[in-house]
Amino acid sequence: MKDANRPVTKTTRRELFQTTGRLAAVSALAGVAIPSVHAAGTDLIQVALIGCGGRGTGAASNALATKGGPIRLVAMADLREEQLFKSYKALYSDKETNAKLDVPADRQFVGFDSYKQAMDCLKPGDVAIFATPPAFRWVHFKYAIEKGLNVFMEKPVTVDGPTSKRMLELGEAASKKNLKVGVGLMSRHSRAMQELAKKVHDGALGEIILQRGYRMHGPVAYFHSLPTPNDTTDLMYQIRRFHSFLWASGGNYSDFYIHIIDHLNWMKNALPVKAQATGGRHYRDSPRGLPYIDQNFDSYAVEYTYADGTKFFFDGRSMDGCQNIYSSYMHGTKGSAIVSKTGDIGLPSSIYKTQSLRRPDMIWESKLKPEDRDPYQNEWDDLIAAIRKDLPYNEVKQGVETSVVTSMGRMAAHTGQEITFNDMLNCKHEFAPGLDTLTAESPAPLKADKDGKYPVPNPGLNKTTEY
Ligand SMILES: NC(=O)c1ccc[n+]([C@@H]2O[C@H](COP(=O)([O-])OP(=O)(O)OC[C@H]3O[C@@H](n4cnc5c(N)ncnc54)[C@H](O)[C@@H]3O)[C@@H](O)[C@H]2O)c1
Repeated sequence: MKDANRPVTKTTRRELFQTTGRLAAVSALAGVAIPSVHAAGTDLIQVALIGCGGRGTGAASNALATKGGPIRLVAMADLREEQLFKSYKALYSDKETNAKLDVPADRQFVGFDSYKQAMDCLKPGDVAIFATPPAFRWVHFKYAIEKGLNVFMEKPVTVDGPTSKRMLELGEAASKKNLKVGVGLMSRHSRAMQELAKKVHDGALGEIILQRGYRMHGPVAYFHSLPTPNDTTDLMYQIRRFHSFLWASGGNYSDFYIHIIDHLNWMKNALPVKAQATGGRHYRDSPRGLPYIDQNFDSYAVEYTYADGTKFFFDGRSMDGCQNIYSSYMHGTKGSAIVSKTGDIGLPSSIYKTQSLRRPDMIWESKLKPEDRDPYQNEWDDLIAAIRKDLPYNEVKQGVETSVVTSMGRMAAHTGQEITFNDMLNCKHEFAPGLDTLTAESPAPLKADKDGKYPVPNPGLNKTTEY
C-alpha cells in the first residue's frame, strides 16, 4: 500500500498526527483483511470494534481494561474514516489502552461492509463490539454468529417488532453455538443495583405497587436535526444523527430512556403487559428559525401496567428552561427505594422505611469499593470472565424484551393508542427493511415528501403505525 493511502498505524505520536493529517485528504481506506494474528494455543482474546464513536471507543477501552488474561484490539470498522481516526487516536493516546492496541493500517476498515472485514480478522471465540446505531444490530449479529464470535452489543438491541423477533431467533442461535453475548444495559452490572435487586426480590419493600422513572433535561446528542446539508446524502445524515430518526435508533425515547425502563422492570422482576401514553412536538424551529426535521416528541408521559395491575410511570422531556429530573424510584407496601439517584446508574441506591425518600427514614444505602463502582467496566469484566471460564452468558433475550417494552411506550405515545407487549412484538412495521444489503448509494430509509418534510407521528390520525 502506498504511503499516502496508509491509515493510522501505531508508530510515534508525532507520526500519528502527521499520518492522520494526510489521511484527511484521501477518500477511502483500503480494506484488505489479513489472517488472524492469534497464535493457536494461547489464551489471547482478540477484539474488533464496529462503530468507532463515543460509546464504541469507551467499550473498547473497557474491554482492554479487563483482567485475567491477554486481550488486544486488532480491528476497527466505521462508516466514516474521521470517526475511526478519532477513536484510534483516543485509544492510542491513553497509556493503558495503547499497550493493547494492535490495529495496523490493513485492519482499519471503512464502509457498509467494514463490519465483515473487521470480523474476518478474528478467530472463533474472539469478541466483536457493536456500537453503531441499533438499526444495524441484527445485521452485524448474524454475521458474528456465522463466524463463531462472542459479542458485546450496545443497547437498544432492536427498534421495532420484526427486528425484535429476528434478534430473539439470533440470540437462540448464538446460545446453540455456545457464544457469549453481552448487551450494554449496564444497570444490570451495577453492583449497587444488584444488591438492591436482591433485597427487593427478598421482600425488603413488601409488594411493589408503584415505580417512577424520569429523564427530563434540555435537548442533547442528536435529538434535534436541521434539514440535510448539501455536503452529504440523506442516508449518511440519517445514520449520523440517528437519535433523530426512528428507523435508525427508535428515536430519543428508545435511545435515551431504555436504561431506566430496564432497571425498573428488573427490580419489579416483571415486564409490563401494556402501555398508554401522551406526548407532543412543541418547539419545532431552531433559534435561528430553521425547521427541525427529526421525528421525536419533545415530551413523553408513559403509563406502563404490569400483569398484577400495578403501574410504572415514565416521564421524558427534552426541553430547555424546564425542571430537570433524571432518576428512578420504587414504592412498596413496606417502604420505598431510590434506584438511580441521578442519571441512569447514579450511586448510591437506597431503601427507606416510609414513602418519603427522606434521609432520616433511610434503612440501607449501597456502599461500594472504588473498583466496583463502574458498571461499564463491570459488564466487560463479567463477559470476559464468562468467555475465559466458558460459562453460559447470553443477555440477548433480556435485551430484546427491554427494547420491546421501550418501543411499546414510544408507540403508545406516537399513535395515541394502548399498546400491549404482544402488539409491539407482533407489529409488522419494519422501519428499515433490507439493511443487510445497504450501500452508500441506497436511498435513505426515511423519505421526504414533495415539500421536503419527513413523516412524523400523528397520534389519533395514524393509529397502527408510528409514521
Ligand atoms: N450504554 C450506554 O450508556 C450508552 C451510551 C452511549 C451510547 N450508547 C449506544 O451506543 C451506540 C452508539 O452510540 P454513540 O453515542 O457511540 O454514537 P456515535 O455517533 O458517537 O457513534 C456511532 C458510530 O457508528 C458508526 N456507524 C454507523 N453506522 C455504521 C455501520 N453500519 N457500520 C459501521 N459503523 C457505523 C458511526 O459513523 C459512528 O462513528 C448506540 O446504540 C447508543 O444507544 C450506549
